[in-house]
Amino acid sequence: MLLTIKPVSLLTVSILFFTALAASPAQAKEGVWIPATLKAHEKEMRHEGLEIPVDQLYNDAGTGLNNAVVLFGKGCTGELISGKGLILTNHHCGYGSVQGLSSTENDYFANGFFAPNMEGEIPCKGLTVTFIRRMENVTNKILAGISDTMRDEQRDALVLQHIAKTEKEYMAATHLDAQIKPYFEGNQYWVAITETYRDIRLVGFPPNGIGAFGGDVENWIWPRHTGDFSMFRVYAGTDNKPADYAKGNQPYQAAQFLSINTSGYKEGDFTMVYGFPGTTKEYISSYELKQVYSITDPISIAARSRKLDVWTKHMGLTRENFIKYTSKRAGVANGWKKWQGEVRGLQLNNATGKKEAYEKVFQKWADTVKGMPYAKGLLADMKRSAEKADPFIKQDQYNKEAVLGIELVQQGSAAESLIACFRLGLGKDALEDTLKKVVSGMAGFYKNYDAATDKDVFESLMTLYFTKCAAWLPEEFATQYRAHNQDINALADDVYSNSMLAAQDKLNAFATAASAGDSTKILTDPAWLLYNAVNTMRKEKITPILKEYYAHMHYLDRLYMKAQMAMNKKKDFYPDANLTLRLSYGQVKGLKPDGSAKYSYQTKLDEVVALDDSTQDIFKVPKKLKDLYRKKDYGRWGVNGTMPVAFIASNHTSGGNSGSPVLNKKGELIGLNFDRAYEGTMSDYYFDPNRCRNISVDIRYVLFIADKFGGAGWLVDEMWIVKSQGGNSRH
Ligand code: ARG
Ligand code: GLU
Repeated sequence: MLLTIKPVSLLTVSILFFTALAASPAQAKEGVWIPATLKAHEKEMRHEGLEIPVDQLYNDAGTGLNNAVVLFGKGCTGELISGKGLILTNHHCGYGSVQGLSSTENDYFANGFFAPNMEGEIPCKGLTVTFIRRMENVTNKILAGISDTMRDEQRDALVLQHIAKTEKEYMAATHLDAQIKPYFEGNQYWVAITETYRDIRLVGFPPNGIGAFGGDVENWIWPRHTGDFSMFRVYAGTDNKPADYAKGNQPYQAAQFLSINTSGYKEGDFTMVYGFPGTTKEYISSYELKQVYSITDPISIAARSRKLDVWTKHMGLTRENFIKYTSKRAGVANGWKKWQGEVRGLQLNNATGKKEAYEKVFQKWADTVKGMPYAKGLLADMKRSAEKADPFIKQDQYNKEAVLGIELVQQGSAAESLIACFRLGLGKDALEDTLKKVVSGMAGFYKNYDAATDKDVFESLMTLYFTKCAAWLPEEFATQYRAHNQDINALADDVYSNSMLAAQDKLNAFATAASAGDSTKILTDPAWLLYNAVNTMRKEKITPILKEYYAHMHYLDRLYMKAQMAMNKKKDFYPDANLTLRLSYGQVKGLKPDGSAKYSYQTKLDEVVALDDSTQDIFKVPKKLKDLYRKKDYGRWGVNGTMPVAFIASNHTSGGNSGSPVLNKKGELIGLNFDRAYEGTMSDYYFDPNRCRNISVDIRYVLFIADKFGGAGWLVDEMWIVKSQGGNSRH
């Protein structure tokens, strides 16, 4: 590639050739590998630069680094960085927990939080951290007596039975938890032996001006300038085992935790990402891929653009609204932007075209292969099924994003349980009980709800729905629309002033009236009526068809996966991500963007300060950080008077890899994964080594912020820090 870019002298050519050969340029490697299968990659990983045996990364004996990598909450990764249970993860992974602890008086988003000592660490209700102690291939146990083409109804029941039985056996034998999940579309099964800790406390959280710097503008974008980290601590009972929160719990004593290497990296260095990628679908057919990029992605993008416009406007009006919507907004915007990158990347790379070409080859093979009679008709069946499902998928995406994307309408589900009470004629006690549950369940919702904001969202999303879904409009929608002279704003006025779900005091008033015997109002509640109409349409016209479709597709996908593996016996297949522990490897590497400039592989603090803009919240650099910058007061963490901030590498990652450790050739921590570059967000469906990059915070920036900005040097004292290039091993 280098040679074709510009003319170079013969000497340079030969040097380039020579270095290329000598260094055997490491290729970005597609794949999220099961750690227990790394032995098969050891030779290649060593060749690419790994300097430790792979069984230090994972082993069955309980001494591997897998014991230092945790599932943080329900969908992020974290890692242990001290023997006292200190966990590092992303700022955006701690965001939801911190929101529960934040208020206008204690605004951790604006001011950050660093505990002065262990006593100052704050318990996070509901937060958990899960360790993966061991994994084993249990395919033989789960698929015993099950044939490839057994229909799914029958097969699923057997598989579930086998899973339940095998999990029980593992739990009895290990005294730990065990979960079995399918891999390769159900052609393989693995058990994970796990331990989940539930007393987790907040230790450090930089203000948004660092931890969410650049906000949604820089999200999914390289170059990047976010210090996207936070720190928590795992607490355990006296036996070091999981325990409910208790003040007297002790910090978890960790035998394995990551050493930190602060000597940096350069382009081409070997790297690994260890964590919990959520979903990839690399092996699906072109028909399924088309559903993503021409149906679901575009509809979600359109609906969310409208919602985000409204939220942004209202969040700018009051600090209270900002706090209410900031976490929700980040979640909604995250998918919205990623899907835009995905659609673009899939198009620019002609991913469906490539799949179609591959499918031709597959079909030729399938037409003649022996012993797999089902292979022949697979693709035709997939095409037929997908095309039949397309209009239903489209309508349902509008239902979900445009109607159920309105918070008030979505709350109709809470009214459902009350209505069920009346329908079933349950007695007064059951009603009282349900009323209590609904009222207390909704309290959390109202804490972060602003009806005026939501009403604007209603007007915008309903306009979209009425325009795009005219042919599918439920009768109730048409009736309400007509009753308001086809004026969406008038309809909104009615819904938001008359729904008992629109405000906590209205709901409370209803609850009081209902327990006194007057509950009729619920059946004419305008928000519930809309919810019910769309819900009924889904239940009657859409869900049965899609359920059958997905079940059939699941059956076909499994056989297609099996057939693809049979066709490419030499290819090293990795199972699609499924939020289980995986390791990917690649190298520190710049990126040639869609435009003209070439991106470097690293950003620095000067660039952060250059972006400082006091008129935009997301680009406001905290004063203290600017002072440290001006004085070049970087402590032990600077590099020749500069401060590295973030870097990119070619590791294959996905959602869920947020907070994953980025390791060097010795398995030492050099960065914290938090994102992917826009050019490569399509990697969940199609990994292109030239365009796909994971983005990480430099570990030195993390330490600098905790130490010099947060004044939490006491945390650094707990860590194991090695400085020399490549690092010393721990003694
Ligand atoms: N894109 C990253 C991920 O998928 C970061 C999201 C949080 N940041 C944000 N600005 N919303 O999780
Ligand atoms: N930010 C993502 C997450 O929350 C990780 C980055 C990605 O999707 O690549 O898991």
